[in-house]
Formats: sequence, C-alpha cells, structure tokens
Amino acid sequence: MSDTVTIIDNRTGKQYELPISYGTYPHYGASIEALALRKIKVDDDDFGLLSYDPGFTNTAACSSTITFLDGERGILRYRGYPIEELAANNSFLDVAYLLSKGELPDPAASESWADQICHHRMLHEQIKKFMDGFHHTAHPMGILVGTVAALSTFYPEVKEVRDAETRTLEIFRLIAKMPTLAAFAYRHSQGLPYAYPDDDLSYVGNFLSMMFKMTEQKYRPDPVLERVLDVIFTLHADHEQNCSTSSVRSVGSSLADPFVAVAAGCAALYGPLHGGANEQVLRMLREIGSKKKIPEYIERVKEGEVRLMGFGHRVYKNYDPRARILKELAPEVFSVTGSNPLLDIALELERIALEDDYFVDRHLYPNVDFYSGIIYQAMGFPVAMFPVLFAIPRTSGWLSQWQEMLEDEEFRISRPRQVYTGEDQRKKNALAAA
Ligand code: CMC
Repeated sequence: MSDTVTIIDNRTGKQYELPISYGTYPHYGASIEALALRKIKVDDDDFGLLSYDPGFTNTAACSSTITFLDGERGILRYRGYPIEELAANNSFLDVAYLLSKGELPDPAASESWADQICHHRMLHEQIKKFMDGFHHTAHPMGILVGTVAALSTFYPEVKEVRDAETRTLEIFRLIAKMPTLAAFAYRHSQGLPYAYPDDDLSYVGNFLSMMFKMTEQKYRPDPVLERVLDVIFTLHADHEQNCSTSSVRSVGSSLADPFVAVAAGCAALYGPLHGGANEQVLRMLREIGSKKKIPEYIERVKEGEVRLMGFGHRVYKNYDPRARILKELAPEVFSVTGSNPLLDIALELERIALEDDYFVDRHLYPNVDFYSGIIYQAMGFPVAMFPVLFAIPRTSGWLSQWQEMLEDEEFRISRPRQVYTGEDQRKKNALAAA
C-alpha cells in the first residue's frame, strides 16, 4: 500500500500517480495538491485539469496549526486544547495569547500580554469625528467596518507587514481597540457621550463599562455577566477557515495592512449567513412569538420559504460544541438578569427541529448563533450589536491566522482560478463596424 492515488484519464488512457499528504490525523485532512492535477492533459496545448469547487466545500487553502475542527464529531480545539476546557478554565485574553503564540501563557506572560492590550485601548481623538459622521441609525457593524479600516491611516508603520515586531504591535492595537470602536459605535447610535476605557477593569469588564456606563463615577460590571461574556468571547475567538477568516487571509495575502484585512473580516462577518446570523435568530424568535406558532414556522422552513436561523453549518454535521456551552450558560445569565421568554421558544424550537426528519436527514443542529443572541439580549445588548460582539473576539483569531499566513513558507497571494463558460471570441462588434 502506498500513500498515493492513481488517476486514469479516460480521454487519453494515461495513468497518473499523485502523492497524498497528511496533517496531524491520517483520517482527517488527507489531501492531494491541486496543482498536481495540471499534469493531467489531453495534449501539450492543454492547460491541464483544474479542481472545481464553488464555495470551497472541499478545498484546503492552507495548512494551519491553530484550530482543529471535526464537524462530524462535534470537536473544536484551539492549539490542541478542547474548547470546553478553555471555556471552563482560561480567560479570553489568555486564549487570545494561545491562538497567537501557540502556548498558554504563564502568569508573568499573561500579565504582560494583558498590560500591553490595556495600554492600547484608547482611540485617536480624530476617530470620534469619523464616528460622528455616521447617521445615528447606522448599523454598528457598518460603523465598525469603516472605522477599523480608517485606523490604518493613523499608523504609517502598519504597512511593514513583513516586520515581526510591527506585526506584534498591530496585534496589540487591534485586539485592544476593537471593543473601544464597538462601544463607541453603540454610544453614537444612542446619542450617548463616549465612555473612555477604564484601566482598572478586565478586557470584558472594560467593554461593558464603555457600553453601559452612565453618570456613575465608576461602572462595576456584574461578575457573573463579566465571566459569561468572557467565555462567549473564548467560544468565538477562532473557527479555522470560515468566510471571514478566509477574507482576512485573502486580503492580507496581497500584503495589505492588518487594519484593512480585519475590516474585510468584519465585512464578511456582517452577512446573515455568518456572524449576522445571531441577529437574525433574535428577529426570527420574535417573529415566531409563542411556542404554539413553532410548528407553523417549521413548515415554512421545510417549504424553503425561510431558513431556521442559528441552525446548520458548513462544517458541523453534529451539535456545535459552542452552542452546547452557551445553552448551559444561559441559566447563569438569567439568574442575574431575569428570564428571557424567547429562551422557552428557542428550547422548544430546538426540540421540535431535532426530532423532525427534514433537519435530521440534513444533519442540521443548532450552531453558536442559536443561543448567543438570547444571552446578549438578556445582558442588555441591542440586537444590532450582536454581530459586533462576534467581531471583537474573532479579531484575535483573524490576526493569529494572518500572522501564520505571513510566516508560512508556502505563502502566496490568494488567487483562485475559474472555469470560463462565457462566449468564445466574437465576430467584429456589429455596432463598431457600422
Ligand atoms: N434552515 C433550513 N434548511 C437549511 C438550513 C437552515 N438553517 N441550513 C441548511 N439547510 C438545508 C438547505 O436548504 C439544504 O437543503 P437541500 O439539500 O434540500 O437543498 C441543506 O440543508 C444543505 O444546506 P446548504 O445551504 O448547502 O449548506 P451550506 O453548508 O452551504 O450552508 C449555512 C451552511 C450555515 C450557510 C446554512 O446552514 C445556513 O444558512 N444556516 C442559517 C444561517 C446561520 O445560522 N449561520 C451561522 C453559521 S455558524 C456561525 C458562523 O460561523 O458564522
């Protein structure tokens, strides 16, 4: 037995032997090089075979050591650590360190990492002028996309993406400033004065303060909500090569700076099929309105009229482990905030869907967005902020992936091929000839 695959081209009768490569697991991630297919030609003038994969459903665009995701078994690990363990035992900032550097920090490294991030929380005052330019009804995710890209213009050295020291500085800046941008976007939409960062508070505690501080001298976050939001940030920190991460890698592969690459990630995340789904789940639960209307809604889903938001995933064909953790966290949040009637609808919706052949046959389970929105709403976040709450922690994953890409020996600009199906060269344009 050899680690190769043999292909016979029935057009020519020729046989090709292509080597198979493996990642960490022999039965998960075995691959052949797409470029090897180019040897398969009818004659010397033939360009050779391409692999055709709309939506990249079966194409590995890179090798990565950051996140392992086995959707069939419902496994998610960052740098080898199960998500359940990290959520239970580590702070989000330590997880961000793990994603970036490959190891969990010791106490000294953890403190220094948190200090650096704390140091970079402030925004240039000019950014407030950008904020002020947005209409008060502007979606905070749109504001985030625009302002994070605008930050690129404040730091001339940001173009030095090949310089490791500069990259580290930009990673600190972006992880630190995203919550500030997010909170400012929210305060602008509410017509509230901006609340500046508070160095005495944790990463998450400070974010809550910048969001919700009113006239009190000092905002004191509820410790249960602070801890739960920290766990939620860990759950959202990375998810291998999803739509937004691929966008960050793709934009970053032209050696564009990390601020605009992260802006591209935010833009990709904004869509309702990705990070915007948590917002849509809430709107859907409100539309359903009561448990007795669930069967009617499920019928509409089955008829293809609407999608069950927060259900299904390109990779998970099993229960998303992040959704399971969130479902368990919900009662903790409600013990502080009081219950959210939408939770009862969500639980019943999940129960009915998981027993229905339509969802069973298609392996459609709740994903991370199904329960996160209900928790965010109970915490007092407006619905439009939900995708922003996804973008803040995912920035750490995007930047780890961006850094890994730039350090990869196989690094090349991202540039897919296409199969052209349009017109062959046409006869002279009749209008031009006239
Ligand atoms: N509700 C109803 N049917 C669905 C759903 C859903 N949420 N998701 C997939 N299906 C059906 C789909 O209609 C198709 O059925 P058929 O084979 O009869 O045509 C089948 O399941 C396969 O669907 P697909 O669209 O080919 O699957 P995909 O891998 O291209 O899409 C997805 C993945 C996440 C875009 C999709 O499941 C979806 O639209 N879900 C709702 C939006 C959502 O919750 N997104 C958040 C994803 S998790 C957070 C993140 O990382 O962004």
